[in-house]
Amino acid sequence: MAASVHQCAEDTSGVSSLSHVAIIMDGNGRWATKNGKSRSLGHKKGAEAVREAIEGALDCGVKCLTLYAFSSENWNRPVEEVTDLMALLKLYLQREVKTVHKQGVRLRVIGRRDRLSADIVKMIDKAEKRTEANTRMTLVIALSYGSRDEIIEAAKAFAVSVAEGKEDPSQLDEEKFSKGLWTNDIPDPDLIIRTSGEQRLSNFLLWQAAYAEFLFLDLLWPDFSKMDFRAAVDNYLGRNRRFGARP
Ligand code: IPE
Ligand code: IPE
Ligand code: MG
Repeated sequence: MAASVHQCAEDTSGVSSLSHVAIIMDGNGRWATKNGKSRSLGHKKGAEAVREAIEGALDCGVKCLTLYAFSSENWNRPVEEVTDLMALLKLYLQREVKTVHKQGVRLRVIGRRDRLSADIVKMIDKAEKRTEANTRMTLVIALSYGSRDEIIEAAKAFAVSVAEGKEDPSQLDEEKFSKGLWTNDIPDPDLIIRTSGEQRLSNFLLWQAAYAEFLFLDLLWPDFSKMDFRAAVDNYLGRNRRFGARP
């Protein structure tokens, strides 16, 4: 295993270099059912597995880790579950920000903040400010995040700029459009992992995933460990990315 970690940290050459891993952390509810526990405990165990992912990413020298924590559609879950998840998030921010800061990690949160409570928004702002100078790795938490929301926001902002005479529609290209997305300062994901056996994106990074590699794991998110992260990286490093060019 040490060899692969070394390979991961060292590999900066061409096609298989890995700088950004994104994870759809799915399966907390099924973990709870399987273990005869409440969904609430499933989410708590899921929050613990986040540390495993961060440690795995740091061990591998990954520069950016994005975690899908709560989707725009997750607001449609029963109110008790949403309340529970928000309480867990607060607890997480209180406890973990200090640890990630010490590890040289910069925290960024993407998603619709207007749907979050004022105290959570305040905690996020504070955490982002506190960690903004850190350069070892960027940890992006997608929270109240929907990729379609994000794309619409970018389109609206561009339309406003056109209406104000600041932009010319004929000058819009991929690079400029990307700059209007919440991920504007983050590279596209190289690898997207989803746990729980589901094989879908669920409104996650639709634009940014254009050339991402995918890995669908049969394990449930609370069971995810840093060894799973390393195995995912090894799997990725064995792939041949082509970006539409001739093999
Ligand atoms: C992922 O686990 C956590 C969130 C989406 C917030 P789920 O709660 O979706 O777990 P399953 O899919 O029901 O097992
Ligand atoms: C995707 O999981 C969102 C997160 C992991 C935060 P869901 O459990 O909400 O996705 P679906 O409903 O199975 O597509
Ligand atoms: Mg799910």
